[in-house]
Amino acid sequence: MSDTQSIMSSMVETREFPPPPDFVKDAHIKSIDEYEQLHRQSIEDPEGFWGERAKNHHWFKPHDTVLEWNAPNAKWFVGGKTNVAYNCLDLQIERGRGDHPAILWEGEPGEVVTFTYSELRDRVCQTANALKKLGVGKGDVVTIYMPMVPELAIAMLACARIGAPHSIIFGGFSASAIADRAKDAESKIILTADGGWRRGKVVPLKQNVEDAISQYGGIAKVVVLKRCENDIPWNDGRDVWWHDVVDAESTECEAEQCDSEDLLFILYTSGTTGKPKGIMHTTGGYMVYTALTAKHIFDLKPDDVYWCTADIGWITGHSYITYGPLQNGVTTLMYEGAPNQPDWGRFWEIVQKHKVTKFYTAPTAIRAFMRQGDDIPAKYDLSTLKLLGSVGEPINPEAWMWYHEHIGGERCPIVDTWWQTETGGILIAPIPGAITLKPGSATRPFFGIDAAVVDEAGVEQPANAGGFLVIRKPWPSMLRGVYGDMNRFQEQYWSQLPGIYFTSDACRRDDDGNFWLMGRVDDVINISGHRIGTAEVESAIVSHPTVAEAAVVGIPHEIKGQALAAFVALKSSSTPSDDLKKELLAHVAKEIGAIARPDQLRFTDALPKTRSGKIMRRLLKELASTGEVKGDTTTLEDFSVIASLSADDD
Ligand code: WTA
Repeated sequence: MSDTQSIMSSMVETREFPPPPDFVKDAHIKSIDEYEQLHRQSIEDPEGFWGERAKNHHWFKPHDTVLEWNAPNAKWFVGGKTNVAYNCLDLQIERGRGDHPAILWEGEPGEVVTFTYSELRDRVCQTANALKKLGVGKGDVVTIYMPMVPELAIAMLACARIGAPHSIIFGGFSASAIADRAKDAESKIILTADGGWRRGKVVPLKQNVEDAISQYGGIAKVVVLKRCENDIPWNDGRDVWWHDVVDAESTECEAEQCDSEDLLFILYTSGTTGKPKGIMHTTGGYMVYTALTAKHIFDLKPDDVYWCTADIGWITGHSYITYGPLQNGVTTLMYEGAPNQPDWGRFWEIVQKHKVTKFYTAPTAIRAFMRQGDDIPAKYDLSTLKLLGSVGEPINPEAWMWYHEHIGGERCPIVDTWWQTETGGILIAPIPGAITLKPGSATRPFFGIDAAVVDEAGVEQPANAGGFLVIRKPWPSMLRGVYGDMNRFQEQYWSQLPGIYFTSDACRRDDDGNFWLMGRVDDVINISGHRIGTAEVESAIVSHPTVAEAAVVGIPHEIKGQALAAFVALKSSSTPSDDLKKELLAHVAKEIGAIARPDQLRFTDALPKTRSGKIMRRLLKELASTGEVKGDTTTLEDFSVIASLSADDD
């Protein structure tokens, strides 16, 4: 564990924004007292609280016990049988939402398609039947590598309907990333598309799948959606067109009665070692928690047109494009492409055209918009917006203020939502009708979340002192493990403090009990709100035949929040050159995806190490961000290394 000394917050932010009276009037939760009373109840009697909330869902059989907690293993709604897709679709139709738009989709080239809840249910059933005919049974992991089209949401719901866990891989990841994940999950089927649109270009998804299969031969079936009509490789025995297998199927498919603890999905995320972790989420707890957080944090109402700009390939898209909003019967908007296609007004044009009421995005996007100028959003009618959200990294107060003023017209509360792939749903965020906002703070924990800031011994820190953010009680949507590696689960999250979930985030709590997140304390870098493990990038670089050793560190970046800097020592048979530098950067993009491509790459003869052989990333970080090293070098083995690195001018 790193030391807390370095976790000092210098941020002093005193601006406060109480809930606007107009917003409070119609809010689900209208006062701080109401929030505090519910929070207290949820902490004192979690089983009573969650047992009651579970009744708002459809269960084939209700639970016998709300929680079985054997740290670190939690079982929620034990003995209950349910189906998440049924709750997202059939239950909404039973509640009278059949003709209401469920998914409102806009493609990058501009097409608009709407699916009502009934239409979506029919399409999900057809797809579920097709999957069954292709041999997918309960418990079989289905890999999904698709663009942001409605069929991506349909595919995940179809899997949920038949009890087949999905493993969705972000469309920006490369062939090797697909192969690694499909292999780790022992998946035999991939759902993909010929391509997807991004900045006016076709992303060759099927080609990437083909390259992945050449690295991992376990894939027996590939279902291909026709999207861009681009030329693709084809294997007759293995590949089928989506429309050929789905369109003729029946629109009835009984929902599988899943156990509350059946695996709903795996989602791979970066950790501190080179190998991504398959985070496991199960059925009942995830269902109840995502529905309740979506309802209260976005204050969802029947007529909301809710837009989360994340990709479904990340946890934000899983929980707050698909499962959370649909369980609340609202319209969830999906957009396929880039924010600057054809120009930087695209998002605001979408808000205006579809009369978006709730808008959820990432600080990196907000900073990019800020940079393009206030006059761009000013051209659009954004008056339908009632609430804004932020996720993925700490939002700097200046970006918060810009978002508040130029997008929210100074009338929309901003919910800064802190959570992780592992937590399944939002853990810390304002309840917008109840909590006074402070720019840069995610404010208060959600119901059932017992969050604390502690030192390395687990002792709770006084107000305003920095420390580690931990969660002291189990919550329904918490991860149930790391796929195929329960040791890593124990080691990574539960070994620092027994029975307490360690988030790896630094934090402080102010006098009013608001949480201020201060970034990661491990070797995970947050680039544009997405987690990249430095070890993963290091192993990608080292896999290049010319490289002997590499170290990768995070450095501050104006738009992306953080960027990567790589230090590379070549084998003696190779010589540094600009061409080789380019080749190594392209190699990282090929191995992991463009998102992991370092912004800086320097060649060095050796890396600074401690006497025990650990690379001193702290020094490299300082060097990469400031150009020199002033920090403590007493444990450094060879001083000349730093001297020679500093002499290098990138
Ligand atoms: C960071 C994304 C500050 C944090 C949902 C966390 C944040 C990691 C916030 C998880 C926020 C996410 N304020 N930091 N509102 N939201 N983070 O798994 O470091 O992609 O541990 O989940 O992002 O990233 P992940």
